Amino acid sequence: MGYFNSCPSREHSHSFKYSSSIMKKKLGPQNLQPLWVADMDFLCPPAVIEAVKERAAHGIFGYSTMADDGELLEHVSTWQKLRLDWQVDTPWISYSPGVVNSIYYLVQALCEPGDGVIVQNPVYGPFRSVIKDAKCNWINNQMLKIQGPRGPYYQMDLEDLEKKAADPKNKILLLCSPSNPGGRVWTMEELTAVRDICHRHEVFVISDEIHGDLIFPGERHIPWGLMDSTENWAVLISPSKTFNVPGLGTSFCIIKNKKLRDQFNLIKYHNHGAMENPFGLVAAKAAYAKASPWLNELKEYLKGNYELIDRSIPDNIKLYRQEGSYLAWMDVSSMGSVKKIKEYFYEQRSLGVQLGEDFGPGGEGHVRLNFALPSRVLKEILKRIN
Ligand SMILES: Cc1ncc(COP(=O)(O)O)c(C=O)c1O
Repeated sequence: MGYFNSCPSREHSHSFKYSSSIMKKKLGPQNLQPLWVADMDFLCPPAVIEAVKERAAHGIFGYSTMADDGELLEHVSTWQKLRLDWQVDTPWISYSPGVVNSIYYLVQALCEPGDGVIVQNPVYGPFRSVIKDAKCNWINNQMLKIQGPRGPYYQMDLEDLEKKAADPKNKILLLCSPSNPGGRVWTMEELTAVRDICHRHEVFVISDEIHGDLIFPGERHIPWGLMDSTENWAVLISPSKTFNVPGLGTSFCIIKNKKLRDQFNLIKYHNHGAMENPFGLVAAKAAYAKASPWLNELKEYLKGNYELIDRSIPDNIKLYRQEGSYLAWMDVSSMGSVKKIKEYFYEQRSLGVQLGEDFGPGGEGHVRLNFALPSRVLKEILKRIN
């Protein structure tokens, strides 16, 4: 656990999250404690650092490919099997520079311009923009906010999903599993209901499982491929969030259907996306092969941080019940307008939370706070909030 108690300064490391010019552009004020972008302030696993150093020592960083690295694919597959009990055959795995890139390629592969892609708002902003960029329309299946005894949480509106899925224009459901920003880890019962709806109406499912490894101890993430025996899905995974290597441009798209997989790779090629990153490949291999114990400790630490927030957050802020991720989602609508929310967090407290508007319908009156940082720092932040 000591590993997560301190972190090096991220100043002068080209960090997007800490960049004052980016913060100025995106949030307004410049000198905020950055609590917005979803990367962690922790060092990544020692095995990953070692692997990257070793690769750097080689000294040649030419165009790279994972085509001949069967071992890497085996590690990706074994990770899914051992941690999630899902058998992924290695030929199903394709490289992609990022999960959002994969969504873009898949929407192009499966839709005609003007088709609909169902998204469950509030959700990660690029879900909507990437669909627009692919000349399709995002169709809102608004999540239901439930007031539980220990705080609000989201449920899917299955009745509305059935209606949207029944429209033949709507070809895809883009699922965020687990959800960002809601922090829900969808249950077998919920996913089965979604699966049955999608089967009834032949809706393809893209399941973005980038947060799938970061669930709290005691919870279970169910990969889509485990409960859907058809080939009408794609699952997107990545070492980026799990091991804090999002700058290394490496993710994996799992597609069982060979024809679609070939199409995905062709579209990737035509979109001129980045080729494999040599550091990303060795980082992914080391992480999946060696960093399972590190991840177990990280998850304990993150849950501890979430509980810290839960214990100390003032009454005017309603923290959502969450089952995973390091992104606290909070209802701050009692503060009033977005101007008032900005004044409270940015101007008076210098805390760079992400405004809920970025997450689409239902996000207004909310903020998201990234708590993947040392507990000592989080305590200081919570003192400022109180
Ligand atoms: C749900 C979700 N999908 C995708 C991404 C981004 O993935 P990538 O950087 O691999 O495109 C994020 C980043 O926060 C995310 O939360």
